[in-house]
Amino acid sequence: MFEHLKEQPKDKILALMQAYKDDPRDDKIDLGVGVYKNPQGVTPIMRAVKEAERRWWDEETTKAYTGLAGDPAFSDAMIGLVLGDAVARDHVAAVATPGGTGAVRQAFDLIHMANPQARVFVSDPTWPNHLSILKHLGIETVSYRYFDSETGGVDFDGMMADLAGLRAGDVVLLHGCCHNPTGANLTGPEWQAVIALMNDIGALPMIDIAYQGFGDGLEADAAATRAVASGCPEVLIAASCSKNFGIYRERTGILMAVAQDKGMHAVTQGNLAYLNRQNYSFPPDHGARLVSVVLHSDDLRADWQAELEEVRNGMLALREQLSTELRKLTNSDRYGFIAQHRGMFSRLGLSPETVERLRKDHGIYMVGDSRINIAGLNKDTVPKLAQAIVEVGA
Ligand code: LMR
Repeated sequence: MFEHLKEQPKDKILALMQAYKDDPRDDKIDLGVGVYKNPQGVTPIMRAVKEAERRWWDEETTKAYTGLAGDPAFSDAMIGLVLGDAVARDHVAAVATPGGTGAVRQAFDLIHMANPQARVFVSDPTWPNHLSILKHLGIETVSYRYFDSETGGVDFDGMMADLAGLRAGDVVLLHGCCHNPTGANLTGPEWQAVIALMNDIGALPMIDIAYQGFGDGLEADAAATRAVASGCPEVLIAASCSKNFGIYRERTGILMAVAQDKGMHAVTQGNLAYLNRQNYSFPPDHGARLVSVVLHSDDLRADWQAELEEVRNGMLALREQLSTELRKLTNSDRYGFIAQHRGMFSRLGLSPETVERLRKDHGIYMVGDSRINIAGLNKDTVPKLAQAIVEVGA
């Protein structure tokens, strides 16, 4: 049977991770995979998470199964974190999932189950794994213009023109904040216009929010998701705890389905639990438990928020520094958008050949579309990157 298997295309981000590991150069710089690193190049365990682990170690008395939807205290805490009081709790069905990717996968599965004709509209560009999972599930995708490589901002007119091609029952995949891979985000009024368009047509929004707290702060980063949740009849939200709690390998995420019609709640909740059972049965508990302990303890929550702010402000400072260095070296504002972008990533708008030269000649690793992970830099490597960009003639 195995002879019928075909080789699968390599995931570009993960392949880059490996290439970086294999590079023997001491001064190499990793701006690839979206993992936070402190100025020493370490991905630390956040203080509050470590303390939650200690407390939970003392408290935990069994490893027996939780429920199919995971621990309800985790769902309650995450619904509060992402949605605030934008919608009533009894309008939200939710299940814990293995990471944000697990939530994305379950959401696509649910869409396909509910409406096999639904097409999913995705931003051009989007996180490559969105496209890969959609293809794997045989779901038709339509891309909408999103990034304006001339300005480094959002091509909002192009986006709206392409979304006008939606049909009732189609899905629009949107990044709640900190767009991956571009770093360019919609303004509040632009979000309102997208909401109105989706409602006029009868399209369903799906939000992927994987970087809450990395852009303008926990509350500001959730504003768009909350506006969609309160402004549309139904919405799917895939949220990740990998980045903002720094618990990547614990695989912790949540899928929420919000409906204005409360009558939908029980059947939607049942379908989400059914999908968990079909795909992996019970979701992993450890990471979810740590998140729950942090969010339900006043002292740990305050400490977590403070550390997250340090992380966010550190990335903003690096953005400013890189943009200023490039302004000095190029004598132009061509890279001014880096300071305007938000989150972990910026797409620099370099050609694949230039990206390749940066890797070969300078040991600087970024994704082939010229996405950089800002957190892979520190104040000493920013000038090196800026100099290298100028040297390769970008
Ligand atoms: C990224 O975009 O680099 C992260 O979301 C990690 C991943 O799984 O691709």
